[in-house]
Amino acid sequence: MVNKLKIAPSTDPCGNVDDLCVYVRKLNNFADYIHCDVMNKNFVGRDTITDKDVHEVYLRTLVPLDVHLMVNEPARIVKDYISAGATIVTVHYEAFKNKNKLVKTLKEIRSRKALSGLAINPGTDVIEIMPYLAYSDLVLVMSVDPGYSGQKFLESTCLKVKKLKQIREDYGANYLIEVDGGINPDISKRLRINGADIIVSGSYIYSAEDRAKAIDELR
Ligand code: DX5
Ligand code: ZN
Repeated sequence: MVNKLKIAPSTDPCGNVDDLCVYVRKLNNFADYIHCDVMNKNFVGRDTITDKDVHEVYLRTLVPLDVHLMVNEPARIVKDYISAGATIVTVHYEAFKNKNKLVKTLKEIRSRKALSGLAINPGTDVIEIMPYLAYSDLVLVMSVDPGYSGQKFLESTCLKVKKLKQIREDYGANYLIEVDGGINPDISKRLRINGADIIVSGSYIYSAEDRAKAIDELR
């Protein structure tokens, strides 16, 4: 049996925290996760939400929070996002100079009873993260360069998803495969066929007149 594709609307298109709180409340009946895009001006140029804001979101939704940390050297802050209410905390492979620290951080996320996510930028090959898959409950494949909503989907992503699915089968692993950036219903369908479990969507859902319908179309 094939599981239903899960849809995670992202917080990124919201202009401020008030807007964000209204947005997530409206998605309660429709979203599978709320994807919280955290940036602090060092991994990417923008500054978005903090752990305090994530907690505000947590207080307004029944939907589990999927926190995407676009932050360099996030080892010391993962605990703050778990305390804020995150179910999944995802860190970037590229954000760690010392990959032993990456392993330590993924283990810490699990030991604090959250799910560990490992994200890769479009320029990073799946083969590079093979040693870390055993510590990851989820792999987030970026299909745009992180930083902004509304960019064009990179086609090379489909092959990466396919490879991750194959590796999962070959090694009997059970990480979920999530894809983030530039996704519309056509692309979502193709990603599903290649093995994606969770689709993140910023602008497609946010800009839709009927957001419930947009989520349905992506699914
Ligand atoms: C990009 C963020 C994404 C973004 C996706 O840096 O990580 O989560 O919000 O937005 P769309 O779907 O508009 O590309
Ligand atoms: Zn994201």
